[in-house]
Amino acid sequence: MIQVQPSTQYYIELEDRYGAHNYHPMPVVLAKGEGVFVWDVEGNRYYDFLSAYSAVNQGHCHPRIIDALVQQATELTLTSRAFYNNALGEYEQFITNLLGYDKVLPMNTGVEGGETALKLARKWAYTIKGVPDNQAKIIFAEGNFWGRTLAAISSSTDPGSYQHFGPYMPGFEVIPYNNLEALEKALQDPHVAAFMVEPIQGEAGVLMPDEGYIAGAYALCKKYNVLFIADEVQTGLARTGKMLCCDHENVKPDILILGKALSGGTLPVSAVLCNNEIMLCIQPGQHGSTYGGNPLACKVATAALQVLIDENLADNAERLGHILRRELRAINTHIIKDIRGKGLLNAIEIDTSEDSHLAWAFCLKLKDNGLLAKPTHGNKIRFAPPLVITEEQLYDCINIIRKSVKEMEEHF
Ligand SMILES: Cc1ncc(COP(=O)(O)O)c(C=O)c1O
Repeated sequence: MIQVQPSTQYYIELEDRYGAHNYHPMPVVLAKGEGVFVWDVEGNRYYDFLSAYSAVNQGHCHPRIIDALVQQATELTLTSRAFYNNALGEYEQFITNLLGYDKVLPMNTGVEGGETALKLARKWAYTIKGVPDNQAKIIFAEGNFWGRTLAAISSSTDPGSYQHFGPYMPGFEVIPYNNLEALEKALQDPHVAAFMVEPIQGEAGVLMPDEGYIAGAYALCKKYNVLFIADEVQTGLARTGKMLCCDHENVKPDILILGKALSGGTLPVSAVLCNNEIMLCIQPGQHGSTYGGNPLACKVATAALQVLIDENLADNAERLGHILRRELRAINTHIIKDIRGKGLLNAIEIDTSEDSHLAWAFCLKLKDNGLLAKPTHGNKIRFAPPLVITEEQLYDCINIIRKSVKEMEEHF
């Protein structure tokens, strides 16, 4: 009897039939990953130019991270925080020393990190700053994205995220991104607890603020005794050419949120870091998570951070990012309207229309030529490969992009 291998179409139909329709993936079914490459169920190999939204900075299935995962998985995976475990303390010591904070609060997903940061900021506002109870305010920037919980969508300016999910969380105010005047105006309200911001807006399409914005925003927060919360879930952990994106402007956030690459793509691990004055506002029983700080996550996160350091992935991102942008700008084409980024967090804009199908068609073309990327917000395409990519591999990718542009031009 002939064994028929399930096909791409089979898996797509299966998801379509039995799964919620809350995503619109590219039509490729992946079955294996290693370093910068992924393979589909038909055996085709692709460069991964999304890196699971920067969760796979260390490359797919990094051997040292997988070793840590497998070894700890055979020892102890979850204790809950009802008991101590022998992995959490050492991980906490390691990450706080590395990033220069007194304490860390471990969570799982990025959005939980955001929720935790906001709870810390509110508690700090009531217990230290002296804001009257239930009147604390958090300021966000337009175009922000920090996840899908009710609080996260309450600060969103993207109708796709918030529409028909109301009523929304009170105590939030949204101001324009990259606008220090608007921030200063908002900060004058003495009830403001915090300003939460992404140093580069990833999901919005790699929107880069002017140089000096982050340092300026931090200084304003200090002036008005407001906490500066950096959402570095996507920009952090070497992605933009420094360990943290805020490092580019020598800003040390009052509260730092990390996620995604903290586990190198193996399991949801997030972390919120701050100093004692803020962290100790939360006392036993006031916040937590069953899985937060589990031994498996602690060992994996330690390995994931160590890989970033030992393999100089921030430097690699910085160096190759310059090459990528330079070579993309050298492509003579009317299809690409803009190229921007920092380190290996980059985006191109395909044309000026927000709901253009051209970006989707271009990603399909890239896929056919062996590179996976996905549009965000219509016409923007993120180019964010794993940071372990070599210069030779990057040039290979640039050739794929150049070839795909030329093929697109024949049709449009
Ligand atoms: C900047 C930023 N913050 C938070 C999140 C939410 O992370 P998660 O999907 O792990 O909840 C994301 C996800 O894309 C993000 O880009």
